[in-house]
Amino acid sequence: MRILVVDDEAVQRQMLSGFLEDLGYEVIEAAGGAEAVAKFKNEHINLVLLDHRMPDMNGDQVLEEIRSLNPRVPAIMITAYGAVDTAVRVMKLGAVDFIEKPVDLQRLLKRIQELEQDISVDTDFEQVQQELEEVELPVRIIGSGRAIKEAVSVARRVAPSPWSVLITGETGTGKELFARLVHGLSMRRDGPFVEVNCAAIPENLFESELFGHIKGAFTGAVSNRQGRFEQARGGTLFLDEAGELPDALQAKLLRALQEKRITPLGADREIEVDVRIIAATNRDLKELAAKGEFREDLYFRLNVFEIHIPPLRERREDIPELVEFFIRKYGAGNTRMSEAALDMLMKYDFPGNVRELEHIIQRVVTLARSPVIKPSDLPPDVRSGQRDNYAALSLESRLAAIERDEIVKALEDADYVQTRAADALGISERVLRYKMKKYGIKGRRWRG
Ligand SMILES: Nc1ncnc2c1ncn2[C@@H]1O[C@H](COP(=O)(O)OP(=O)(O)OP(=O)(O)O)[C@@H](O)[C@H]1O
Ligand SMILES: [Mg+2]
Repeated sequence: MRILVVDDEAVQRQMLSGFLEDLGYEVIEAAGGAEAVAKFKNEHINLVLLDHRMPDMNGDQVLEEIRSLNPRVPAIMITAYGAVDTAVRVMKLGAVDFIEKPVDLQRLLKRIQELEQDISVDTDFEQVQQELEEVELPVRIIGSGRAIKEAVSVARRVAPSPWSVLITGETGTGKELFARLVHGLSMRRDGPFVEVNCAAIPENLFESELFGHIKGAFTGAVSNRQGRFEQARGGTLFLDEAGELPDALQAKLLRALQEKRITPLGADREIEVDVRIIAATNRDLKELAAKGEFREDLYFRLNVFEIHIPPLRERREDIPELVEFFIRKYGAGNTRMSEAALDMLMKYDFPGNVRELEHIIQRVVTLARSPVIKPSDLPPDVRSGQRDNYAALSLESRLAAIERDEIVKALEDADYVQTRAADALGISERVLRYKMKKYGIKGRRWRG
């Protein structure tokens, strides 16, 4: 593996290269930003160690340049001690990690070894890119529309970092699924994933629930009890419905996050907890913070990174794939949707998002009396919720819905002879087949 070590200070540079070369790594040195970019262009590099502060070009710029040249090559930023804002910024710019000065060589080595497993030394960039995209996700996330792909890509990038992640989206959009994804892609994947539903815990029990209590701390505390924070040690604490956190608890939570210590109720000393926080909310925390209904400092702590999952009605292109997935999930692999039924689903608004779609499919395949699901098998809400225009959709959804309609029309006009339909649409048969698959259009008409 070839490592590019970038630092303007010769001593620091030599210290790093010496250490890495002794371990058998091939090292290329650069004494400044411009030189680093030039070498990155001309040599095959697998990893970049980048000092943030250099006289000719700052680390942000160098990082941006090399990311634009080849985003698949990981970069570790070396930052000044305690420069949290720099660290957060470079992580957002795509650094895979940052290491504070003075560099802890053992920690650096450990991180390099972890990265090594992900780095293919293959020189074929296309192949590396392909492989990385295909690395199996720890949870199944269906959807190949742009929105979900983007959310998965953000999750991949933030997962290895120590930062808090805020997952936003309406009810049923998959926030918990994404929380599990981030956990499963992180170094904490073998640690616990502990969930706290902030909306479900009575206010007077909240503190004990999160931080635990010792015997006798209050009436009814008959024994010591571990809080969720402690249970999540070495893993991830998932704060679901974080917008519902009671006021008094917000301050205490903030302190726990800042100091990485908690005090169980009634205890006289603090305990250390190493926990990564993922919060989810279907409310607009930013707006709540602006209105003074949520602590702004806590909001910023939780929202180092945001993963936003758009409602299903804004990414209808994912509906056919989800339908297929849920049909199989509920053991009805032989059942299929009629064209007309799928059409209705494509046009429905799904106020309950993916969860609602899942329930619909579950119910329908259980009750269906024939292997082909007809519009009349769908719940009344879906049948009456038909829209007659595409106005309220996002542009991508609108185009997808229009394209799908056009393809169905062309196929019907051509009696489902694909060569003729493709001709009429002015596309190749191969493209037609691809699009039919994408939109869940069956090769012949299913009369519904
Ligand atoms: N992209 C997806 N692929 C496969 N399954 C999904 C997807 N999105 C959501 N689901 C499924 O939909 C259901 C609801 O998802 P989840 O519980 O993660 O939603 P949520 O956003 O946490 O909802 P709430 O706000 O109501 O808590 C789950 O069964 C989940 O597995
Ligand atoms: Mg949830």
